Amino acid sequence: MSLNVTKKIMLITCALPYANGPIHLGHMLEHIQADIWVRYQKMRGNQVFFICADDAHGTPIMLKAKKLKKKPEEIIKKINLEHKKDLMNFNIQYDNYYSTHSNENKKLLILIYKRLQNKNLIKKRSTLQFFDTKTNIFLPDRFIKGNCPKCKSKNQYGDNCEICGAIYNPVDLINPKSTISNSTPIIKKSKHLFFNLPYFQNMLYHWIHSGILQKEIINKTNEWIKHGLKEWNISRDAPYFGFKIPNTKNKYFYVWLDATIGYMGSFKNFCKKYNYISFNKFWKKNSKHKLYHFIGKDIIYFHTLFWPAILEASEFRKPTKIFVHGYLMVNGKKMSKSRGTFVTAKNYLKHLDSDCLRYYYASKLSSNIKDINFNLENFVEKINTDIVNKIINLAARNASFINKYFNGNLSKKISNPILYKIFTDSKKQIEEAFDKRELNQVIKKIISLTNIANHYINEQAPWKIKKQNKKNENLQNICSMGIYLFKILMTYLKPILPSLVKKTEIFLNTSLSWKDIKKPFVLNKIQPFKKLFQRISINEANKIFKK
Ligand code: 2FM
Ligand code: ZN
Repeated sequence: MSLNVTKKIMLITCALPYANGPIHLGHMLEHIQADIWVRYQKMRGNQVFFICADDAHGTPIMLKAKKLKKKPEEIIKKINLEHKKDLMNFNIQYDNYYSTHSNENKKLLILIYKRLQNKNLIKKRSTLQFFDTKTNIFLPDRFIKGNCPKCKSKNQYGDNCEICGAIYNPVDLINPKSTISNSTPIIKKSKHLFFNLPYFQNMLYHWIHSGILQKEIINKTNEWIKHGLKEWNISRDAPYFGFKIPNTKNKYFYVWLDATIGYMGSFKNFCKKYNYISFNKFWKKNSKHKLYHFIGKDIIYFHTLFWPAILEASEFRKPTKIFVHGYLMVNGKKMSKSRGTFVTAKNYLKHLDSDCLRYYYASKLSSNIKDINFNLENFVEKINTDIVNKIINLAARNASFINKYFNGNLSKKISNPILYKIFTDSKKQIEEAFDKRELNQVIKKIISLTNIANHYINEQAPWKIKKQNKKNENLQNICSMGIYLFKILMTYLKPILPSLVKKTEIFLNTSLSWKDIKKPFVLNKIQPFKKLFQRISINEANKIFKK
């Protein structure tokens, strides 16, 4: 890593995955999108740190541990290793992947809590909550089901109705049942700590309109502000797996408070390893360094309202931008275990290359929040058509002549400078698309260039020239041109297809860099062409859906 103390830092994060289950293709949509952006920013010469962690606290993790008769600490440790391995196998290049169950996080959480208290922003209030008398726990919204108080639909969760969209207080649910014990919960009183979110209404209104958010997200957040913000309950009753609240008997910090602070905790841990980076300088109010969060559209509220308000209240800097993406759908529906469409990262990798998914997602991702559909036939066709038939074929067909008749030596002449310039001049357009996270536009442009390159080779028909004279200089020039164009395409694709590009760099005997795109070509000799990429079959791809 090259270091520059004065240069601005870009700190980029993904939402912290819960430590109670495996990484799946839904998570991968976000990690891949962010990793591509990170790799691109790094190639452009920016000083980027890519940070994540496991979100290790909360009721589900506590219940899982209970069920397995293990300590939660044991479970989160094991899952942390699995998550790191899965992400690494997809070439997600985190600079630090940590856990919210850490000393760094605890210290920051307490510091922030004390600052909020000192400013009188924390209030104690009594609440009424569902309590499961069989298991003796207060039930989080996700662990209560009942009939919607508005439309009366059955089987709705404790906080909102998936059928009519109503948002309600869990205690208003009709015929409530605990999903843990299936018993009818009672309503019980408990004292809780509330953060004064409404106090920040004005600040938030201005902040969300200051170029931080996508248009759709501004509208959504604005609606929430317009309806009036409510105080936020940041405490939970024991038993709970999390950090204890100082000076309370049996209260814990709500997982969502220490989760967002987990971004800071992971960075703090990273800074300890590299003491030239100053944690304080990065997080201080009005810091000029950049902070980008990639998140899904289900957790907007936490990132556009709670998080900036907490940061403001505790005198830390706020995010530079929040990039929201849509959900992953499989064949048009939510990924689901019962439908057999739930695919873990690990199972995917048993059958397919990580670059295939990276490419497929990139070809569909844009800067809006529309859902992304994974369709197996479409996936297989896209990979085979674009990567195998178009991109790899360009290298394969030209390399075979260069290796066979010219001992791998490339021509020093560009046989079609105008065409070459079209490829290098596309840099600007591709950069703009990468900058705006319009990855589908990046792919579209690259494929249209690939089509042009293949068309050029078809027209020049080196196989015909070969018939006339195998050592013909023209044959070497044309095939070299094909390789040079391939080199530019692969440089553009480097953030997206790290695994394929690594093999390509060996084949081309060079490392592909962004700044070299416009430099005169510098290749000498290519290596014998080994298969760079495997065509995929629908049968093999279909196995990702099976256990
Ligand atoms: O929704 C989730 O999966 C959460 N674990 C995300 C937390 S992101 C951040 F705030 F920490
Ligand atoms: Zn309803």
